[in-house]
Amino acid sequence: MTTAPPLLIFAGSTRAQSHNRRLAQVAAALARDAGASVTHIELADFDLPIYNADLEARGTPAAAIRLKEIFHAHPAWVICSPEYNGSYTGLLKNTIDWVSSPVQGDPTWGDGLKPFAGKVVGLMSASPGALGGLQSLSHLSPLLLNLQCWLTPKQFALARAGEAFDADGQLLHEAARRGVQGVVEQVLWAAQRLHG
Ligand SMILES: Cc1cc2nc3c(=O)[nH]c(=O)nc-3n(C[C@H](O)[C@H](O)[C@H](O)COP(=O)(O)O)c2cc1C
Repeated sequence: MTTAPPLLIFAGSTRAQSHNRRLAQVAAALARDAGASVTHIELADFDLPIYNADLEARGTPAAAIRLKEIFHAHPAWVICSPEYNGSYTGLLKNTIDWVSSPVQGDPTWGDGLKPFAGKVVGLMSASPGALGGLQSLSHLSPLLLNLQCWLTPKQFALARAGEAFDADGQLLHEAARRGVQGVVEQVLWAAQRLHG
């Protein structure tokens, strides 16, 4: 797996004790174990206002440009998506809206699809609930398909996330670890074939 394309991992939460941020840590560690070169970002490090076209007309925020560069540079992604009201978070939507919005007159970022098109994306979620935030993935999937991403058939939803990790952030149950590993391996496998 040493020739695997670079893998980007991020969670759709900035909460300090976020289950999805923990899940992203686990996924990043498993991907590194599989030989992948992993970039694990925190959306808290990208200061983005709520998307507003009037604001954008005065200049796309530097954080949005930086995210465009990062998204574009990584052929493979894993996204850990919390579930709010049966869908994904406003944070995730706002981030994707900024990154997918064309920068008018910019020769590099004039195409809004450029950071997304052709990416191989594996989706995971974590929630204290019994379904593990699965509904957020069913909403996130069509959004990413619309942006020309390839989604892996395997997804993973971590139920009862409050009891799923030990104090070091490791998953307590082998079945959950295998669920994460299955998505990570499939993303790397598909990205290798599409982009390797
Ligand atoms: C506004 C709001 C709506 C929520 N709706 C759902 C829901 O529909 N399904 C669910 O499983 N959890 C729901 N939750 C609980 C979240 O899954 C929980 O807060 C989770 O810890 C958020 O992810 P994080 O730990 O990565 O921040 C909701 C939480 C909030 C704040």
